[in-house]
Amino acid sequence: MKQGFIGYGNLANAVYQGLKEDRSIEFAYYARNRKNVDLHYFQDMESLVLYADVIWLAVKPQDLAGVLEQLKKSDLSEKTIISPVAGKSIAYIERYLGNKTTIIRIMPNLAMAFKASVTAFRSNKPDSEKSERIFNLLGKLGKVVKLEEDGFDLFTSVFGSGPAFILAFIKTFKNKIQEFDLPGSLLDELLLELTRGTTLYFMQNQKDYSIEDLIKNITSKGGTTQAGLEYFQSHDIGKHFEGVLDAARNRSKELSSNGG
Ligand SMILES: NC(=O)c1ccc[n+]([C@@H]2O[C@H](COP(=O)([O-])OP(=O)(O)OC[C@H]3O[C@@H](n4cnc5c(N)ncnc54)[C@H](OP(=O)(O)O)[C@@H]3O)[C@@H](O)[C@H]2O)c1
Repeated sequence: MKQGFIGYGNLANAVYQGLKEDRSIEFAYYARNRKNVDLHYFQDMESLVLYADVIWLAVKPQDLAGVLEQLKKSDLSEKTIISPVAGKSIAYIERYLGNKTTIIRIMPNLAMAFKASVTAFRSNKPDSEKSERIFNLLGKLGKVVKLEEDGFDLFTSVFGSGPAFILAFIKTFKNKIQEFDLPGSLLDELLLELTRGTTLYFMQNQKDYSIEDLIKNITSKGGTTQAGLEYFQSHDIGKHFEGVLDAARNRSKELSSNGG
């Protein structure tokens, strides 16, 4: 399968890093400026479209209309289009390209580079072989879930922006342990091990225990964890954190309603 990226930034690079070892896949890209990467570069979009079976719209939302205006001049009948563009619906893309071409909207995150993305998937031809092939391809880059498009805003907030929110949480831990007076890089290593250990604990037990059970296992009556958790509950920290997710979801909705 020949994959062609229109635009080569963070997103395209994550896809490439995640799949480059797969010998059955070839890659090329077109962008206005050549990048310092070892995959084939086409100087114009038409040549990339002729080359590729699968075309990734790997540009920012504000650049999408210009790209689609140009793309609609090519014969796309045998192509599959993948759009990771935040806030832009399949209907929006069909306005330019029509509804004959297979168009797949996804919402991944950059962990595709390590085959650990959580990716939402929606196709305008859900039962087609082309869609199934892309669903399987994305499965090589992490977990993929088929979702109605109206779920994309919440999904973007939790799984697209989620890594930044979890890191922001870890940053509060880091601020707190500054008083150890250890080098910053060592603090990062310690926090990395904390999150890795927590993830492993979650992974090993997730089938048999709920998150509540796993928290309970760390909490002894009258102990330190209980003291912290009581503060967590009495100050509604969970509710406040939901506010963070709601803010991101609302922003995603705003972007979608803005011509998306
Ligand atoms: N980054 C993420 O974590 C993430 C996660 C989920 C979804 N997404 C979505 O993925 C898309 C790409 O994001 P990104 O982070 O990869 O953006 P990025 O790093 O800014 O890359 C955008 C690329 O588009 C190229 N470009 C802009 N206009 C173009 C045009 N008219 N023709 C061809 N190439 C053009 C730019 O290169 P030149 O200027 O050289 O052409 C650049 O290589 C966005 O729509 C975003 O919503 C991103």
